[in-house]
Amino acid sequence: MGKNVIFFFSGTGNCLSIARNIAKGLGGAELIRIKKDMKIPDITDAQRVGFVFPCYGGGAPEDVFDCAKAIRIKPGTYTFGVTSCSAYKGTGLAKLHKIIPLKYWSVITHHCSCIWLFPHTMMMPRLTVGEAEARSEDLSSKIVEDILADKVLSGRPSFNVFNAIENMGFSKMALKKAEAFAVSDKCVACGQCANLCPRGNITIENGKAKIGTNCTQCLSCLQFCPESAISIGAISDKREHYHNPNVKPADLMQDSITI
Ligand SMILES: Cc1cc2nc3c(=O)[nH]c(=O)nc-3n(C[C@H](O)[C@H](O)[C@H](O)COP(=O)(O)O)c2cc1C
Repeated sequence: MGKNVIFFFSGTGNCLSIARNIAKGLGGAELIRIKKDMKIPDITDAQRVGFVFPCYGGGAPEDVFDCAKAIRIKPGTYTFGVTSCSAYKGTGLAKLHKIIPLKYWSVITHHCSCIWLFPHTMMMPRLTVGEAEARSEDLSSKIVEDILADKVLSGRPSFNVFNAIENMGFSKMALKKAEAFAVSDKCVACGQCANLCPRGNITIENGKAKIGTNCTQCLSCLQFCPESAISIGAISDKREHYHNPNVKPADLMQDSITI
């Protein structure tokens, strides 16, 4: 394993784009996709270990914490966490810090991937997709400067109790919402959604994608579907789909990426 390792969880590509930008700034890194049944790599020789993940419903995907619990990091390793959100960071960094004490953390807002709650343009500050990505690249450069300077933040990532309460309710809401998935006859059984799903929750049956209930709501399947065959309700059907402008489905399907 290289000297920089970044674990990332990403549905619509914002976090992969951020992880790639940080990796490039650091002069290279091994990016490892967080997903169900992922092979936990030996990273004991890494000098820097980072996590880049989205805020979901005031928290973060449980998969991120499961991965953090499974890895072994040698004492003295520089650890960092970056969360991406559309408006507020939630409790993800604080929860991760309890599992792996972080030396440095930061937040980058970007376009919103939760199509059933908001249009993707609902981000703070309001920016076009291109502007948001340019801002994300700038903020990633600042993060890189700090990491290269071995900056260590004092205290711990702030924990907002309202976000924690929101997150408790969100898990139930997300599970309920997963029941609303429908696959139309436009589906050509290309299998892209099955390959993208970080939970292995999608199968191709009788020439059509079938979505199960083990869903984190990353919406990668829906947002990238080339036939717009996946729906999660009438409101989201009307909304423009979104994925990060610099990330292609094939990028997200790789278990690891060497930069
Ligand atoms: C199910 C779901 C819940 C979300 N909840 C929040 C939230 O509570 N607060 C927020 O600011 N953004 C929220 N977002 C927006 C994402 O955090 C944001 O779009 C992030 O950049 C997505 O990263 P990705 O493209 O790597 O998947 C949510 C997105 C999804 C799909």
